Amino acid sequence: VTPIRVAMLGCGTVGSEVVRLLRDHADELAARAGAPVELTGVAVRRPHRHGDLADLLTTDAAGLVTRDDVDVVVEVIGGIEPARTLLLEALKAGKSVVTANKALLAEDGPALAEAADASGVDLYYEAAVAGAIPLLRSLRESLAGDRITRVAGIVNGTTNFILSAMTASGSSFAEALEEATRLGYAEADPSADVDGYDAASKAAILASLAFHTRVTASDVHCEGIRSVTSSDIAAAAGMDCVIKLVAICERIPPDGDVPESVSARVYPAMIPAVHPLASVDGAFNAVFVEAEAAGQMMFYGQGAGGAPTASAVLGDLVAVARNRVGGGRGPRESAYASLAVRSMGTV
Ligand code: HSE
Repeated sequence: VTPIRVAMLGCGTVGSEVVRLLRDHADELAARAGAPVELTGVAVRRPHRHGDLADLLTTDAAGLVTRDDVDVVVEVIGGIEPARTLLLEALKAGKSVVTANKALLAEDGPALAEAADASGVDLYYEAAVAGAIPLLRSLRESLAGDRITRVAGIVNGTTNFILSAMTASGSSFAEALEEATRLGYAEADPSADVDGYDAASKAAILASLAFHTRVTASDVHCEGIRSVTSSDIAAAAGMDCVIKLVAICERIPPDGDVPESVSARVYPAMIPAVHPLASVDGAFNAVFVEAEAAGQMMFYGQGAGGAPTASAVLGDLVAVARNRVGGGRGPRESAYASLAVRSMGTV
């Protein structure tokens, strides 16, 4: 059987776990995918840090993404550039793409989807939102026949870890952030977590998928947790509440002459202690989805960290491999409805 040949861009917290799982579970993955899934190249900036990958290493990411011995590009470098250029080149060259890059998807997801459609290849990004939780696939596939009205919850592990530690043990903000970074939850620049931009990117991706429209990170009203103090947390506790950074994406029904629209916002909210979101601690994420026919659902699991995020990447790789073996493609997305995005502040 012809193997599915994988190139990786980046090999940090998530990438090194992807490599480990690809190697440790090679036989099982081959059986599930219908073909061996083989790593043929890994592009990194500092090869001396990845001695165990030896011959697979390159610093020439642009060369790697168009190489003849590559079928799928896995991108775990994050950030807009050079990731965007590399992935567009890869898609143009007929490579399928698996990416965890929420910032890029939230800024330019449709350009990637169109490039994938133009080449007839796959674009999967389950790892971009809520780590291990199979949330995007549920919105994109399982609920494709329903009408989603609301997606809301905790989608940033770092801030949830910080707020949980400040609530449970009175840790300082700085101590909790340091620990979240040590555990591999935080972004390379943790201000993306702390100021809410990471959650805003995820909200944009969730709203785009849930409402079949185009929402970018800049459409999302965004407040982070930098100004949340220990006394705010104590005051919330006095009212039987906890403070959580929440992301809320909603369909706004038509109102008179105003057509249906969507709203997406991220802000620290007071959550009653009896609410299920109040007991979501550490780097866990939890997301409620409401759809007209399905009613309410709750998704819960590890939303950050190397291994949980790698699990989502591996699931996407198996999906791409199965599609390639079967001669098909995953879901297409380039047809977007055009619902206006309305600012609702923190209502
Ligand atoms: N920094 C992100 C978080 C990683 O803390 O949730 C997962 O996207």
